[in-house]
Amino acid sequence: MTHPRSILLVFFLSACLLPRLTRAEDGYRLWLRYDRIDDPRLLQEYRSSIRGVLVYDKSPTLHAAANELKNGLDGLLGQQISFMNNVFGWVGRGALIIGTPTSSPLVADLHWTDNLSRLGNEGFMIRRYKLKDQSGIAIVANTDIGILYGVCHFLRLLQTHQSLESLDITSIPALHYRVLDHWDNLNRTVERGYAGLSIFDWWTLPLYKDSRYTDYARANASVGINGSVLNSVNASPIILTPAWLAKSAALADIFRPYGIRVYLSVNFSSPMTIGGLPTADPLDPAVQAWWKKKVDEIYSYIPDFGGFLVKANSEGQPGPQNYGRSHADGANTLADALAPHQGIIIWRAFVYNESSEDRVKQAYDEFKPLDGKFRNNVLLQVKNGPLDFQPREPFSPLFGAVPNTPLMLEMQITQEYLGFSNHLVYLAPLFEECLHADTYTKGKGTPVSATITGMAGVANIGNDINWCGHPFAQANWYAFGRLAWCASATNLSALIADEWIRQTFSNNPGVVDTLKKMMLASREIAVDYMTPLGLAHIMGYSHHYGPAPWYDKASRADWNPVYFHRADSAGLGFDRTATGSNALEQYAPAARTLWADKKDCPDNAVLWWHHVGWNDRLHSGRTLWEELCHKYYTGVDSVRWMQKCWDALQLSGIDNQRWQQVKMLLCIQQQDAVWWRNACLLYFQTFSRQPLPAGAEQPDHTLAYYENLQLYYAPGTANSGVPQKINP
Ligand code: GCU
Repeated sequence: MTHPRSILLVFFLSACLLPRLTRAEDGYRLWLRYDRIDDPRLLQEYRSSIRGVLVYDKSPTLHAAANELKNGLDGLLGQQISFMNNVFGWVGRGALIIGTPTSSPLVADLHWTDNLSRLGNEGFMIRRYKLKDQSGIAIVANTDIGILYGVCHFLRLLQTHQSLESLDITSIPALHYRVLDHWDNLNRTVERGYAGLSIFDWWTLPLYKDSRYTDYARANASVGINGSVLNSVNASPIILTPAWLAKSAALADIFRPYGIRVYLSVNFSSPMTIGGLPTADPLDPAVQAWWKKKVDEIYSYIPDFGGFLVKANSEGQPGPQNYGRSHADGANTLADALAPHQGIIIWRAFVYNESSEDRVKQAYDEFKPLDGKFRNNVLLQVKNGPLDFQPREPFSPLFGAVPNTPLMLEMQITQEYLGFSNHLVYLAPLFEECLHADTYTKGKGTPVSATITGMAGVANIGNDINWCGHPFAQANWYAFGRLAWCASATNLSALIADEWIRQTFSNNPGVVDTLKKMMLASREIAVDYMTPLGLAHIMGYSHHYGPAPWYDKASRADWNPVYFHRADSAGLGFDRTATGSNALEQYAPAARTLWADKKDCPDNAVLWWHHVGWNDRLHSGRTLWEELCHKYYTGVDSVRWMQKCWDALQLSGIDNQRWQQVKMLLCIQQQDAVWWRNACLLYFQTFSRQPLPAGAEQPDHTLAYYENLQLYYAPGTANSGVPQKINP
């Protein structure tokens, strides 16, 4: 029998430990957790500032906004907040007013017309008002979707413990298109997806509407994402058949109130594969008629359909060049079909053929001459760098080079080349590096952000309970949306990390500080242990996980790591200056000067632009070989530093479930960093013929061991999911 005293002891101990033990969390709620504010002073301030809400939720979007606000406020304030659909213009102390001047007489009474006129269709204002002797906070916009964005921002202020004292916020998106590109296949595998299967369960759609679709839309709206391409760029023509259009329409219906338009990736051969035509030649009248009819049909399912995303004549996909036509011919045929419905074509510039020309030059060579030849509703989608989402690349020379063609900047949120969902790598610094890079195409001060109309992010979302696999991978989805909204502002990575940590983990200053340091350092750390000094594309063939700088067996030269690093007994790196491939020439003259001279070229890009001698000194004062070793060793040490930081947070209030997950994932990251360091240094050492640093941790395996490591894919899942290591 249990002694009463031991029961008392259990109660006593639980009471003491309670504040430190937090509810286990599976990460499903993302950054929309809305837990009760635990700071009594702040809770008091918020409760007295928000005594009730006046909203005219007549539309589905306003209804969604009111719902989000109700959930958020009830949770954060720990009490039921009354919502009034007040048509008589009553206003009481501390009333939070939300609405547009047309939907709300109270908002009209504020007479903020001048300010509202600047907000456009998606912007919002959050301000304090005085009305009929009462004061409070108002969230106003010209449109219902502006209101939803404003509500989400307001909840963000509360979740991040901001004071509401002197609120005066005006927020307008910098870019028109802020789109997630899903690389989801119709069998639910996800190309380069590392968080389970596709969230889109095509088998049960359109009848079964998983509540996760609504949560997906809420999360996107909360960061201003306004478009979703549902399927992979390597598109199955089946997506355009009536059965699948009905499924897409069901998703579009769910997303619509949240301001998210649906787009589809299409296969250029669709007129043949599902249309039964003998050709897909874009200039053939029967093909043009087929696309028009198909597009009309799509709009009968989805009246606000966004348009098509097309990967054509790229990596084996069909396209207009199959018929001797140009990319403009192909894009324009589809654009003409979409134009009557205000739809757009997003045509990808990710093209490169098997040729003797440097792979990174080919997209520019292909598309620069086509500038001005596209219809008005064609956007060209350009990856951030000229190669392929590497840990670090210079910006693509197409930015600013095709002034008559609107551009979408394509970023990869899923970590195809950055350790999948196993590594903690916060990508905002990578995204910002590209957005703020000066193209000099209209003189100094022409950043990439000034040359684009939209941003697309290859999604990292799957049906894992926490959506993205790694708990920190959620931050990259979040950061993508926030940066697309504020693309022209600079130095946002820290601010966005701060916001995300506070909403996702904790407002505890110690936790925020430590996690922010880890996140902000993490991208550079990954570059150090994977591809330092401007190296690129030296990862394993096909699966892209782990190092394989020795690999030379691919069917195409430009899929081989040896093509990219060009190691020899003299040195390392790809000469892309005038003495080499002259990719440099594709940039504006002032941009070239940054990289042209080997001596001036920043260390972090030097091997991208130059072949550098093993004993040449870099800016660091070390020789290339010494610096390469230094970077790889620093990378590993820094992952160990991240592990220590994380260990120290065990009792900081972070729930044990997520703390354990991240701890285990950091162990994998540490192992992988060692793998990258050892494999790359042992391999490059066969060219440099110089020793590893004296006294440093020595590789625990031979180069042959690393070269013979095989990664295993489950059949049928090539390019999706995580391969398994098989030791030789
Ligand atoms: C990369 C990636 C492919 C993808 C391609 C693209 O090459 O490995 O899986 O299809 O990019 O962007 O089209």
